[in-house]
Amino acid sequence: MGYLVKHIVSSLLLTVLFCLSLPSVYCAERAIPAGKLGETVVLGREISLNTAAHTLSKQYTGNVLNCSSCHLKNGTDLKNLTYVGVAAAYPAFSSRENAVVTLADRIAFCFMRSMNGLQPPPDSTLVTAIAAYITWLSEGTAIKMNPVEPNGPNAMRRLNVNPNTVDLVNGKKVYDAQCASCHAEDGQGVKTIQFPDASPGGCPPLWGANSYNKGAGMYKLQTAASFIKSSMPYAAANLSEKDAIDVAAYVNSKDRPDFDLKKHLLKSAPHAKVAD
Ligand code: HEC
Ligand code: HEC
Repeated sequence: MGYLVKHIVSSLLLTVLFCLSLPSVYCAERAIPAGKLGETVVLGREISLNTAAHTLSKQYTGNVLNCSSCHLKNGTDLKNLTYVGVAAAYPAFSSRENAVVTLADRIAFCFMRSMNGLQPPPDSTLVTAIAAYITWLSEGTAIKMNPVEPNGPNAMRRLNVNPNTVDLVNGKKVYDAQCASCHAEDGQGVKTIQFPDASPGGCPPLWGANSYNKGAGMYKLQTAASFIKSSMPYAAANLSEKDAIDVAAYVNSKDRPDFDLKKHLLKSAPHAKVAD
């Protein structure tokens, strides 16, 4: 009897600890906080899912992507670019900016680079709501500021990439066989191919004027290859490391907007903590 009780208590405890370390999709739904805070979390979740169309965010975006085009399952997919735990790492040191940055700064960087848009005011409802959503997904994660890079405790696993062995001919072959059915042969995506757990824009563009710019994390070969290896083709990731690296290099060899920091900065009070 005593043994049974102990067993039940310890497995309950394990479940609770397990749930705390995982996003809500794996456990019972995380509770939305009461009142205004809960409304702000829900607003942030909606903006991150529907960034290109939402009235609070669309003036700060410069392409058709949503935050959740890359932060898959709206940041709850633990395999890559997850928001889960991220808030626990900030303020964090960023070598690119050579500064200690806040979660609000980090959100603004993705607006300026990944979304090819404009720096939103750090104290705006927009940034506060997205930060509230990310913080909500980070509840229960122990605070551990990151002195090395602005990344959370569940940051994406990186592949080892040697840029000298990249094969663009194989990259194109992989693209045509494994990516073009959703992202289209010309890389411009297909709006009408929708998935229930994906953001509402359909399959997003991978290059051209409506894609991320050359200042974005995804423009780095290692980042794109690691993301593609763990997540693409969507819901059926199966590429070898070599194919993931070659197709990432192929995608990033195509035209996309240049990044000129000055053009993306908040006009009224440019932020000090930014870098080319
Ligand atoms: C084109 C893909 C893409 C889009 C779109 C995008 N991001 Fe990101 N985001 C990234 C990449 C890549 C990183 C760097 C992750 C790393 O270094 O592991 C990142 C990092 C982040 C981080 C820091 C994560 C951490 O571990 O500390 C936050 C927060 C973030 N993005 C929020 C957003 C928000 C909010 C939006 C929408 C306004 C957005 N992102 C849009 C690709 C994207
Ligand atoms: C079955 C359809 C499908 C296939 C095949 C597919 N993707 Fe995707 N991909 C998506 C969807 C859908 C998203 C956006 C998810 C969301 O919005 O929630 C996405 C997002 C992306 C993104 C981040 C957003 C952006 O536009 O930059 C990249 C990069 C990407 N895919 C690359 C690839 C590559 C490379 C391949 C081939 C190896 C591939 N995908 C195959 C459906 C697909």
